[in-house]
This record gives sequence, C-alpha cells and structure tokens, in this order.
Amino acid sequence: MNHLIIYAHPNPASFNHAILEAYADELASAGHPVRVRNLYAEGFNPVILQSDYELINRGTPPDDIRSEQEHIRWCGIMTFIFPIFWAGMPAVLKGYIDKVFSVGFAYVFEGDRPRGILRGRKAVIINTTGGALNYYQKSGMVESITHTMDGGIFRFCGFQVLEHKFFVAVPMATRAERSLMLEEVRAIARSLPS
Ligand SMILES: Cc1cc2nc3c(=O)[nH]c(=O)nc-3n(C[C@H](O)[C@H](O)[C@H](O)COP(=O)(O)O)c2cc1C
Repeated sequence: MNHLIIYAHPNPASFNHAILEAYADELASAGHPVRVRNLYAEGFNPVILQSDYELINRGTPPDDIRSEQEHIRWCGIMTFIFPIFWAGMPAVLKGYIDKVFSVGFAYVFEGDRPRGILRGRKAVIINTTGGALNYYQKSGMVESITHTMDGGIFRFCGFQVLEHKFFVAVPMATRAERSLMLEEVRAIARSLPS
C-alpha cells in the first residue's frame, strides 16, 4: 500500500518528529512505499490567494496545489501527524486542507448535496496534546475534535478513518512514557492493511 504522510510541526527536535520517524520507519521496514510532506520544512504556503481560488473554481488548480493532489492520488493510506494547536490543526495544515482538498478533487456538488470523491482511501490521524487525559476526555474535547476533523473533513471527502490517536500531556511525559507512546505508534503502523 502506498503511504502518504502529512506532517506539520515546526520543530525537527519535537516529539511529533519522533512520532514521524517511528511511524515512517515501521512502514518502510514492512516494505510499504512512503512519501512524507513536511509542511513547515517545505515552507508550504497555507494562504489561498484570490488567483488560486479562481483557478480552483474553474477546475484548473495552480501547479503547487496540483502537485500535492498528485501525491494523494498516488496513496492508499494518508496519515496526518501534528500537535493540537488551539483545539484544532496547526494553521499550515488547515491551509493545506483548504487548498488541496479542493472542489472537483476531494468533493463535488451533485444533486441535493456535496459528495466526497476520495473514496477507497484510508486516513490515520495521530495527534499530541499539552492538555491532560482527564481534561481531554471529560470536557468532550476529544469528541469535538474527532467529530469535526474525522467527520467534517476526512469522511466528508470519502476517506475511511482507520485510527485517530491522541497522545495527551506530552510536554509533561517522562522518557519512559514517551518510549511507550512511540511503541504504540509503531504498533499502529504495523496494524494497517497491506
Ligand atoms: C500555538 C499552540 C497552541 C496550542 N494549543 C493547544 C490546545 O489547544 N490544546 C492542547 O492540549 N495543547 C495545545 N498546545 C500544546 C501542544 O499541543 C503540545 O505542546 C504538543 O502537542 C506537544 O508535542 P511536541 O512536544 O511534539 O511539540 C498548543 C501549543 C502551541 C504552540
């Protein structure tokens, strides 16, 4: 299975980067072709320009968007690795979704409702939080985030969401706890369909 990983963290020494390395390493060891889009490192511009918007609506997205869409066409499983920033995605990733999951590519308006057209693809989401487990589960935050992201973006576009994992309270985690989390990351990669 071809794997596309969309990674969004500004710090190459972060725990998110360790997650990326463990996950990509496990997939590559199992023989899966893996492509990584490192949005901060590549300087992905999340802002939709007026000209982008016009081209997208004419069904001819600009080259930078088209090349990202080619990566998505290539993959069978798309994985997103990022920290929760203000109860959602880092802005660079939100901008990636705004631009790349465009009308005519990710969904169409048909009959009485929009319809996702990335069917057959699967999605995995791996998040880290600063907030603690108690807060995240009892406040309904996990439910809200999974509802809006998994439902509002990925399932809407036709993805089957295989896993949405939250590693919580990461800034306070000990070395031993971090190692266990990375083991879980590897286990997720091993559990994916081939
Ligand atoms: C701009 C910004 C916004 C953040 N917003 C949240 C938030 O809404 N909820 C939360 O639990 N943690 C929040 N955090 C904390 C990060 O999610 C946390 O530090 C990160 O997931 C830890 O992973 P890392 O060590 O790889 O950076 C925020 C951090 C930053 C820099």
